[in-house]
Amino acid sequence: MAKKKEMEGEVFYPSEQVVEQARVKDWEAMAEKADKDLEGFWSAEASELEWYKKWDKVLDDSKKPFFKWFTGAKVNIVHNAIDRHLKTYRKNKLALIWESEDGKEHLTYSYFAMNREVSRMANIIKAMGVRKGDRVTIYMGRIPEIVFAMLACAKIGAVHSVVFGGFSAEALHGRIEDSQSKLVITQDGNYVNGKIVDLKRTVDEALKRCPSVENVLVVRRTGQDTPMDPLRDHWYHELAKLPVANGKCPTEEMDAEDPLYILYTSGSTGKPKAILHVHGGYMVGTYTTLKYVFDLKDEDRFWCAADPGWVTGHSYIVYGPLLNGATSFMFEGGPAYPYPNRWWQCVERYGINILYTAPTAIRGLMRFGEAWPNKHDLSSLRLLGSVGEPINPEAWKWYHRVIGKEQCPIMDTWWQTETGMFMITPTPTVPLKPGSGTRPFFGQQAEIVDEAGNPVKDGDEGYLVLKRPWPSMLRTIYGDPDRYVNQYWSKFPGKYLAGDSARRDADGYYWIIGRVDDVINVSGHRLGTAEIESALVSHPAVAEAAAIGLPHEVKGTGIHAFCLLRAGFAPSESLAEELRQHVAKVISPIARPEDVKFVDKLPKTRSGKIMRRVLKARAQGLPEGDVSTLEE
Ligand code: PRX
Repeated sequence: MAKKKEMEGEVFYPSEQVVEQARVKDWEAMAEKADKDLEGFWSAEASELEWYKKWDKVLDDSKKPFFKWFTGAKVNIVHNAIDRHLKTYRKNKLALIWESEDGKEHLTYSYFAMNREVSRMANIIKAMGVRKGDRVTIYMGRIPEIVFAMLACAKIGAVHSVVFGGFSAEALHGRIEDSQSKLVITQDGNYVNGKIVDLKRTVDEALKRCPSVENVLVVRRTGQDTPMDPLRDHWYHELAKLPVANGKCPTEEMDAEDPLYILYTSGSTGKPKAILHVHGGYMVGTYTTLKYVFDLKDEDRFWCAADPGWVTGHSYIVYGPLLNGATSFMFEGGPAYPYPNRWWQCVERYGINILYTAPTAIRGLMRFGEAWPNKHDLSSLRLLGSVGEPINPEAWKWYHRVIGKEQCPIMDTWWQTETGMFMITPTPTVPLKPGSGTRPFFGQQAEIVDEAGNPVKDGDEGYLVLKRPWPSMLRTIYGDPDRYVNQYWSKFPGKYLAGDSARRDADGYYWIIGRVDDVINVSGHRLGTAEIESALVSHPAVAEAAAIGLPHEVKGTGIHAFCLLRAGFAPSESLAEELRQHVAKVISPIARPEDVKFVDKLPKTRSGKIMRRVLKARAQGLPEGDVSTLEE
């Protein structure tokens, strides 16, 4: 690889072939242009898409931090994700390829077929009384119908709220209740590592106390025995046969600032936050970032191996690829079931060009050795991606060498549910340093600041803040605008507080260190310590609890819990196990603690706040730092 500019640390430069193929050859020039004229940059990008009516203003910051983008414009994201392609050769191009967990089923949908399926689903939910602005909760696994369901909502102007299929009845209940959804779309069961997860029964459990829900639409996937309430529950395949469920449905004209979806994410307090995204800006942000960062070409097959239940799946399985007219691949299963070559089989079978996944998956697959990927022809791959947590250089290099055969640059994309799109990320020609997401995306500026909000010097750790608005930024926390202002815009007025600590090196490259709030990142999933602690305390044996994150070989961070028992309960191995299961049941198996320890006392400040930092230091045998606020 040709070396260009002297840079600090270990640097991987793009090959000539990568540069030759790249859409953005001169990153610096493009970044400078966008930096000088932010609105001009985004307005040019937005103009590549179709609008029923163009905007009066690109960015309206008159009521900041309630920023608005493309005000006055009329659009629908589905018009650009599907409708506009039907007028071109893309009508017969594949929009979605799907493979079942067991590899026995393969389904493909052209843009034409996608339009038919989405319209069918849209007509059904319309017939159930769902109207523009109504919320619909979607609780499903990775099957094509989850994509249809999301797009069907957007098409008629309803607001989808996808809840990850691994969440418990209680977590689902809280999210349905908070969003006041009218309809829940689910499936009978979901295949996970050869077993069936009973999604519909979990919905039944969650709905025991959700009066807002009028109907439940159930997609048949596993075919197992499923209880159906004759008044409330409806099989999708039965309704799909009715004349009303035809494949034609007009796309609703929306204001650019009308809500598209809400997605819950963990914050530092107990209740998950409902992040709100809108049709216009989110569309422009996801379209543009995917186009430049993964250099999407018309003939590409793009595989984002996340779950549609998280923002990564929303932006880069569903919306981003379709907005770009690409072919998105979705796999029902996980990377290692039944064997650790499952993903590589898919890459080979479908000729995947771009693979975008999380460090935890890479680390998990690394453990099985190189022989598994080496059995497959992975030469179709052109680019790789990483998201969700910092990627450790060892995993980066393995991914680069064993999967990418040293030919595929790795796009390490830092972003959040709140940002909707990649924020700190390279594009393919940018020299890479393993573990760094390089620099802010075009038009964005980041900064590392100290407690007082002053920029720290390069190399020092501090709070990561974003200095300029971007089109796909969250608009608010649904139903709680004050929390939106307090959470993101109050600590350093005028700057967006990401909640991560980071540092910047002498080359201007950003290195994310981790969350600074009480959020634990387990395998790229955000979990609040408060959520875990309140799950523990909901068990009759537990009086008080604290949860911390400690390094974990595969998950990045594992959860460790400390519990103070109520009188009458004695510590035991079996109680510890019971508590681990209890958290899995109350929140989700991803929240299951690695271990539960029993303590007589938790370190607290004099005002009664648990000092998790002290627990963490003690658990790792590290110095406890400043303990002046620790109560006696
Ligand atoms: O801590 C950062 C980490 O994940 C957080 C956002 O989580 P969530 O909203 O669930 O979205 C995950 C997928 C976009 C961030 O605050 N994070 C995400 N991507 C990276 C990352 N940390 C380091 N490097 C990344 N590439």
